[in-house]
Amino acid sequence: MTRLKAAITAIHGYLPEYVLTNAELEQIVDTTDEWISTRTGIKERHILKGEGKATSDMGAEAVRGLLKKRGIGPEEVDLLLCSTVTPDMKFPATANLISHKAGIKNAFSYDMNAACSGFLYALVTAANFVELGKYKKVVVVGADKMSSIVDYTDRQTCVLFGDAASAVLLEPTEEDLGVIDHKFETDGSGYVHLHMKAGGSLKPPTYDTIDAREHYIYQEGQPVFKFAVTKMADVSLDLMKRNGLKVDDVSWLVPHQANMRIIEATGRRMALPAEKVMVNIQKYGNTTNATIPLCLWDYEKQLNKGDNIILTAFGGGFTWGAIWLKWAL
Ligand code: ACO
Repeated sequence: MTRLKAAITAIHGYLPEYVLTNAELEQIVDTTDEWISTRTGIKERHILKGEGKATSDMGAEAVRGLLKKRGIGPEEVDLLLCSTVTPDMKFPATANLISHKAGIKNAFSYDMNAACSGFLYALVTAANFVELGKYKKVVVVGADKMSSIVDYTDRQTCVLFGDAASAVLLEPTEEDLGVIDHKFETDGSGYVHLHMKAGGSLKPPTYDTIDAREHYIYQEGQPVFKFAVTKMADVSLDLMKRNGLKVDDVSWLVPHQANMRIIEATGRRMALPAEKVMVNIQKYGNTTNATIPLCLWDYEKQLNKGDNIILTAFGGGFTWGAIWLKWAL
C-alpha cells in the first residue's frame, strides 16, 4: 500500500487594513525609524483595529479566502487547527470560533500553542492526521493579534510585532510531496527570557498585575536573539543532513520573521545564498504564528512543484524546529 503524504494544496493570508509605520511609532515611544530599520529590518506592521475584533476574525478571513481559492465549500473540511498565542478567550479554542465564523460545520477543531514555533508544530500534527487516510481536508491556521499583548510603552518590544493570519489546506497525496520530515526541540528553562507574567494559573489577573503591566509580552531581547540564530540554523542543518539534503538541493529557507538580523545570520550560518531566504518582515513585523505561512503566500508565484523548502522557527518556550516540505502546487 502506498504511504500517503500531506501536501499543501492551497494557501491564503489576511492582513488587517491599518498600517502602523515606524514614523507613527516615533510619536508613541522614544524611538526612530533609523533604529527600528537597522536593528530589526521592520518598516511597518498591520494592526487589527475595531471594537470586538479578535484573532478569530482574521483567521476566518484567511480561511474563507483559502476555501474560495481551492474551490471547495466549508462543509468539506474535516479538521481545523489554529496555532495562536493570542486566543480570543482562554476558552473556547479560537479554532472553534474560526470554524463557526467560516461556516465549517462538519469538522472538529482545536488550538495549539508553541509560541512562534506553533505553526510548524500544528502543520506536522495536521499532516499526521492526513497521513492516516481518514482526514481528507485539514486546515491549519496561524493567527495572532499581537497588538493585544504588546505594551506600547515598551520601546524594545512594541516596534517588533504586528497582527495577521494565514492558513493552509492539507490534502493527501500518493506522490512524494508535502510534509516529508521534521525535527522539533523544546527547552522549558528558556521561559525566563520570554513570557507573559500574569493572566495564567500561576498569577491570575488582579489590580496589582494590571498596575505592574504584567499582561504584556516580557522579552529579554539579547538572549532570545542568540538562541534564535543558533537553534534555527542548527536544527535545519540537522534535518537536512539526516535526509541527505545539500545546500544546493534546498530551493527556499522560510525562517520565522522575528528580526532581519536573525534571518540573515541564520542564512549565513547555513551557508545559504540570501536569494534563497524568504523575507517579508519589512512589511508585517513579527506576526508570531502567521509569519511562515504569510511568507509562503507572498512567495507563492515563485514556487515550483517539487521545490525543497525548509521551514524553521524559534520562539517562546523555548521551542524551535524545522520541517522539510516539498512544494506540491
Ligand atoms: N528605539 C531606540 N532604542 C532602542 C529601542 C527602540 N525601539 N529598543 C531598545 N533600544 C535601545 C536600548 O535601550 C539600548 O540602549 P542602551 O545601550 O542605551 O541601553 C540599545 O537600544 C540596544 O539595545 P539592545 O537590547 O542591545 O538591542 P538589540 O540590538 O538586542 O535589539 C531586539 C533588540 C530588537 C529586541 C533584539 O534583541 C531582538 O530581535 N531579539 C529577538 C526577538 C525574537 O526573536 N523574539 C522571538 C520570537 S517572539 C515570540 O516567541 C512571541
